[in-house]
Amino acid sequence: MSGHVRVPGDKSISHRALMLGALATGRTHITGLLEGEDVLNTAKALEALGTPVRKLAGSWEVLGRGVGGLIEPARAIDYGNSGTGLRLMMGVVAGHGMRVRFVGDPSLSRRPMGRILEPLVRMGIEVEEVGRTTLPLTLRGTQDLMPIEYVTPVASAQIKSAVLLAGLHASGATTVIERQATRDHTERMLRHFGARLTVAERDGARAITVAGDAELEGRTVNVPGDPSSAAFLVSAALIVPGSEIAIEGVLVNPTRTGFYVTLAEMGADIEFCNEREEGGEPVADILVRHSRLKGVRVPPARAPSMIDEYPVLACLAAYAEGETRMEGLAELKVKESDRLLATAAGLAANGVPAQVDGDVLTVAGSALGVGVPGIRPGHGDAGHTGRQECTPVDVARRAAAIDRILSHCSLPVGSEVQ
Ligand code: S3P
Repeated sequence: MSGHVRVPGDKSISHRALMLGALATGRTHITGLLEGEDVLNTAKALEALGTPVRKLAGSWEVLGRGVGGLIEPARAIDYGNSGTGLRLMMGVVAGHGMRVRFVGDPSLSRRPMGRILEPLVRMGIEVEEVGRTTLPLTLRGTQDLMPIEYVTPVASAQIKSAVLLAGLHASGATTVIERQATRDHTERMLRHFGARLTVAERDGARAITVAGDAELEGRTVNVPGDPSSAAFLVSAALIVPGSEIAIEGVLVNPTRTGFYVTLAEMGADIEFCNEREEGGEPVADILVRHSRLKGVRVPPARAPSMIDEYPVLACLAAYAEGETRMEGLAELKVKESDRLLATAAGLAANGVPAQVDGDVLTVAGSALGVGVPGIRPGHGDAGHTGRQECTPVDVARRAAAIDRILSHCSLPVGSEVQ
């Protein structure tokens, strides 16, 4: 593999840009938005809530309604496969005196929502399906949302973000305390849109406080490339002999780069070049060359900064010399599928010794690569970015990259790739 490539826009930032655009007054202009199914579901949800969202030539425009200005949707909001979109949107609608019913696909309908409902109920919302913690769910928001101080029970940017987004509508300051730092795009973007937000250290934890009765103003957001999407091309380049590729304009926010830190520890020849700041987020070009890798121990503290990258790291570990031990992976079990078991089963089907022990995944690598080829089902998991279409300019480059990856995965020709 050789050449330069761009990956689609970051999913986390794309959802947030649309949502904050809707809660701001005036026009928000977004370039680089990820046009995958998950993010398009957020655009559709906002339209159903009365916010005009338009695709222009090469960018997107949101005509915001201001904090508290959304209107009750006529129908249920279908969030498809997107846990991030759904959970953040529950926080967005909480401060509106309206009833919103949420539905999703079979995978999303199995995922835990109690972790979002619990703080939102404390703030004053009601859930019609008393005691239910999975979709379908009907929320009754309130204009009299109460500010809370909330310690997140698990390291999850989705929980933190839902509470902060609801907090914009509360009458007073809302604080979220996280013991382990998670991706901080909500905090950065809230500031970008003019919210009053402070971050302090409290007994070794991060305390994030957002002022209520907020007023946000429409802004321009340039969405950088998604490091979680780049991880697949980086991995392919690392295992295909002779490869050297550059991936331009990738988000390198330290709350998202655990995978790249791990690669460096494994001996990968990888560099971040032209580091710069764009729209309040650190961005760089990633240069990677084929490398001999060695197995490593990935500590649990690193999990939040690479949670979506463990499946691809596990595949890469199959090509490393020695054992790779990944610890603290409990959250992987409640993603779009049980990614912990699915990853181990996929590796085993390909002749790679992999073992799950509680929340630890161990992969025995071999510098020779994978053994007997095998195929495993996808478990209704559309992947980190959700289903998406390639833009024409990317197709040729991506097709070549996918061919390479497939020749290693030994999927039959004509298999559908998601
Ligand atoms: C996301 C947070 C992560 C991640 C997801 C996107 C976000 O989930 O897995 O793909 O945009 O906030 P958790 O924070 O629940 O681990």
